[in-house]
Amino acid sequence: MQAAKPTVAKHQTVNKPKPISEVTYGETRRIATGCGEFDRVLGGGIVPGSLLLLGGEPGIGKSTLLLQTALRIPSQRILYVSGEESEQQIKMRADRILGVENSSGTVGKTDCYVVSETVTQRIFEHIDEVKPDLLIIDSIQTVSTETIDSSAGSISQIRECTAEFQRYAKENAVPVLLVGHITKDGNLAGPKVMEHIVDCVLQFEGDRNYGYRLLRSLKNRFGSTAEIGIFEMQGDGLREVANPSEFLLSQRDENLSGCAIAATLEGVRPMFIEVQSLVSSAVYGTPQRNANGFDFRRLSMLLAVLEKRCGFKLGAKDVFLNIAGGIRVSDPAIDLAVCCSILSSNVDIPISPRFCFAAEMGLSGEVRPVTRVEHRIAEADRLGFEKIFVSKYNTRGINKSRYQIEIVEISIIEEAFRNLFA
Ligand code: TYD
Ligand code: MG
Repeated sequence: MQAAKPTVAKHQTVNKPKPISEVTYGETRRIATGCGEFDRVLGGGIVPGSLLLLGGEPGIGKSTLLLQTALRIPSQRILYVSGEESEQQIKMRADRILGVENSSGTVGKTDCYVVSETVTQRIFEHIDEVKPDLLIIDSIQTVSTETIDSSAGSISQIRECTAEFQRYAKENAVPVLLVGHITKDGNLAGPKVMEHIVDCVLQFEGDRNYGYRLLRSLKNRFGSTAEIGIFEMQGDGLREVANPSEFLLSQRDENLSGCAIAATLEGVRPMFIEVQSLVSSAVYGTPQRNANGFDFRRLSMLLAVLEKRCGFKLGAKDVFLNIAGGIRVSDPAIDLAVCCSILSSNVDIPISPRFCFAAEMGLSGEVRPVTRVEHRIAEADRLGFEKIFVSKYNTRGINKSRYQIEIVEISIIEEAFRNLFA
């Protein structure tokens, strides 16, 4: 007998394979947070029903970022649940953040609800009452569910609570933002159990002794992970830094030896960063080495290259390296600036603050190409630099006449040395 022709049920629950050309989707509606840097990292705003994890070391500013967002996000009802602070403490922080905007000292936005609560079953009761458009849980390590017998912060609690919030988010199309603490070794506590459940993992980082904070996206199901957000912690909360390069570089008038500017990229975002070195004769037997914001082993390698290629007598010198602003850079394009700043300090001849560098160093002193070099050149040009030093193997296809900046192409470190100090 011939099988009946399959009919399409009105509410078909079983998915059928179909040609990819026939798959359609609407533009995902997103809730813009009103904070440009935050939205940029999210890929344009928060997707309804998504589960987000914001990680970071204690004291870095996670609560501040989220409370500030909750207070400023336009026309959304927020429920901010804190397992760490009392409502009074949250209110004091909110007044501090809104201090200038709101001199009477009372929080203006009436649609931001706060509650201090740690048991998820109670939290869901509060949710039923408030019916928020966005839920914030600060932090996942401090909440626990009654269905499990272990203490808050344990792996099984974190896993189960995360799953409960995920279910809530999906069923109600309400986005949930979870705060997660980072352990000493830099991992999100209970990491693996959460990372695959949540849709986005954001990390907030920076040096607590400095004001800068970077918001990175480590995983994003709805956007790119190449974007970063930059903030500065101030007395009244986090200020957005829309133009990091101008900001990081505006602090020097004099020409000092040992400084060189690196044209680095964080994800897709150009960041011009000042590298500072101090090279001096070692007073004690063993020379000292120190690197702030730069990989120590990489510094040792670069010093060995400089010794071999530029006659830099490393055995008898102390070398201190510092990346200005307390930012940690992992872009290899910073290498050339590191080398030039060390050489500059060694010969005590300043490098013009209108020069910048973007190249990686190889073991035999060769100057190697870096990714997106034209992006860096264009930004250097825009910022008014006179010269950018890049690898000669990096400039193919670049139309130099488009830029005012002089593009200095070098292939080995000696050329940079001669060009700058001869
Ligand atoms: P916090 O957001 O509590 O960090 P986390 O939630 O990541 O643990 O804030 C960390 C620090 O920020 C705290 O030590 C005080 C400081 N801070 C400011 O400098 N300015 C401000 O406006 C606020 C609210 C906090
Ligand atoms: Mg906190």
